[in-house]
Amino acid sequence: MEYSIALQFEDGVTGFIKCEADETVAEAAYRQKFNIPVDCLDGACGTCRCHCESGSYDMHPDMYIEDALTEAEASEGYVLTCQMIPESDCVIKVPSSSEACKVGKSTFKGKLQQLNVLSESTIHFGIDIENPDALVFLPGQYVNINIPDSDETRSYSFSSVPNAKQAEFVVRNIPNGKMSTFLSDIAQLGQDIDFEGPFGSFYLRPLVRPTLFLAGGTGIAPFLSMLKSLEVSGGHHPVNMVYGVTNDTDLVEIEKLEEVKQNHAWFDYRTCVASEDSHHERKGYVTSHVEEDWLNGGDVDVYLCGPLAMVDAVSHWLDASQLKPSNFYYEKFTPSEK
Ligand SMILES: Cc1cc2nc3c(=O)[nH]c(=O)nc-3n(C[C@H](O)[C@H](O)[C@H](O)COP(=O)(O)OP(=O)(O)OC[C@H]3O[C@@H](n4cnc5c(N)ncnc54)[C@H](O)[C@@H]3O)c2cc1C
Ligand code: FES
Repeated sequence: MEYSIALQFEDGVTGFIKCEADETVAEAAYRQKFNIPVDCLDGACGTCRCHCESGSYDMHPDMYIEDALTEAEASEGYVLTCQMIPESDCVIKVPSSSEACKVGKSTFKGKLQQLNVLSESTIHFGIDIENPDALVFLPGQYVNINIPDSDETRSYSFSSVPNAKQAEFVVRNIPNGKMSTFLSDIAQLGQDIDFEGPFGSFYLRPLVRPTLFLAGGTGIAPFLSMLKSLEVSGGHHPVNMVYGVTNDTDLVEIEKLEEVKQNHAWFDYRTCVASEDSHHERKGYVTSHVEEDWLNGGDVDVYLCGPLAMVDAVSHWLDASQLKPSNFYYEKFTPSEK
């Protein structure tokens, strides 16, 4: 048995290692040339202390001393990687930069093989990767794509699933935006395009309670990746989604949401449009269209992704409500500063 372990570094870089049965995370990391912090390798110094964000593992208290890891820390999910033996795929937050751990950022080369105008405001594109097996990421994560013939990059969340032959993205077409102009006016199918990553801590955790997805505009992209991977992983807690946009033409990829809904009783969604001019049956912001039931009295994991202003508004709405979700994860599509 072999498990996939995602190591998330402080600088946003995620590295993936394979951990064999009875192998500790520290042993597996070193075997695969990831120099994560360690010292005694004996459960005594605490140097290898990390936080396990998701997954199950064996780490018997007899194998380390209280000075290295307290009982309270262990109950909060802190681990000693030199003693931790995974019993499932895990995500581990490493309190160090990828550079310090000598983990190189991965660059992927590919060719633009799909370019679809989904609406006047949105473009979908797909890149066939030279080495798709090496493209491991967590559904919800993003990459930095080089704008061809420039030294600039833009961040985009995958809308496809890990290990697919083609990496797919859904992008807002911003008038005069650099990447937008490249995609809408210049790009040719078959053209070389490369990116670096994966990055980010906005990714799908194991579903352990009802879950609410809130998407704004092209913030739908990471949720498409998450839903596709949930379709593969099987039976679930309910997943409900509100997908809000500014104008009617911004609503895209609805057929993909509809397909998941038709095929799986665990998924339901609704859409809404903010513009006063809209003919949509539901007007306003996503927060006006969340069913109280979907919040499950607070025992809910909330995932939120979209433009800066939308994410801030929903975060304030959650803060102001009496309800504190069990977990709240978000990704802001912050515009590039270049
Ligand atoms: C982690 C992360 C993930 C992202 N994932 C996605 C994604 O999956 N899909 C996606 O469409 N975008 C995503 N973005 C945003 C994306 O990286 C770019 O900022 C966006 O596509 C604009 O790039 P551009 O080169 O076309 O425009 P730029 O040349 O960067 O900008 C041109 C002008 O438009 C303004 N501008 C930029 N963005 C917006 C906006 N949203 N609304 C109004 N004005 C704007 C800029 O301030 C600038 O004045 C993500 C951003 C981050 C940080
Ligand atoms: S390396 Fe010392 S406790 Fe793990």
